[in-house]
Amino acid sequence: MPAPVHVSTHPLIQHKLARLRAVDTKPPEFRDLVSAIARGLFFEVTRDLRLAPVAVQTPLTQTTCQQIADRVGLVPVLRAGLGMADAMLEALPEAAVWHLGLYRDHATLKPVTYYNKLPPKPDMDVGIVLDPMLATGGSAIAAIDILKRAGTPRVAFVGLIAAPEGVAALQAAHPDVPVFLAALDSHLNDIGYIVPGLGDAGDRQFGTV
Ligand code: PRP
Ligand code: URA
Repeated sequence: MPAPVHVSTHPLIQHKLARLRAVDTKPPEFRDLVSAIARGLFFEVTRDLRLAPVAVQTPLTQTTCQQIADRVGLVPVLRAGLGMADAMLEALPEAAVWHLGLYRDHATLKPVTYYNKLPPKPDMDVGIVLDPMLATGGSAIAAIDILKRAGTPRVAFVGLIAAPEGVAALQAAHPDVPVFLAALDSHLNDIGYIVPGLGDAGDRQFGTV
């Protein structure tokens, strides 16, 4: 049994997805939407983080509270994952950020790694791979391969929109990795774009169309 695929049904996320998909949404609004949706999904992916008790002195008394005990690594896949990482880092400033540069070759649709800023010995308990688009799944699988080879004990993937083909490929390659999405779309077209999708997530964030 592969780890679950969580597709958010939250009304706020659905509402923002509508604007994210719209062809007339310009980069400034697009970036705000990526950030807002990513922040919502972050609350889902961090649901199972381990907690440890901490003593807190309130104005009235001493009490026992909980703090996050897991060391979390955010792993944005460049370029398009960057906007997701900023939002999550605001929510958990203690997280480390490991940048991975991958692009999808237009002819073969295979991922090409061009940058890897993982520490030589990552000491994180959980690595969360961030990429808005899970299309063929090649980029996500390659990113997770890198994290696992580096010894990251637990890995999760967070995307905004996925194609069923990408989810199936990811689950076949990494059945232990839970997937968190804002939407699961219909299919890939013949040039590997998600339909209905939103187009090219990197170009739309950074105005490089
Ligand atoms: C996009 C996207 C993913 C990849 C998904 O990146 O951000 O990384 O494609 O496709 P896949 O599931 O078929 O691998 P792209 O290669 O366009 O690079 P960019 O973020 O620099 O624009
Ligand atoms: N990458 C994107 O940015 N969009 C897609 O639809 C597929 C891959």
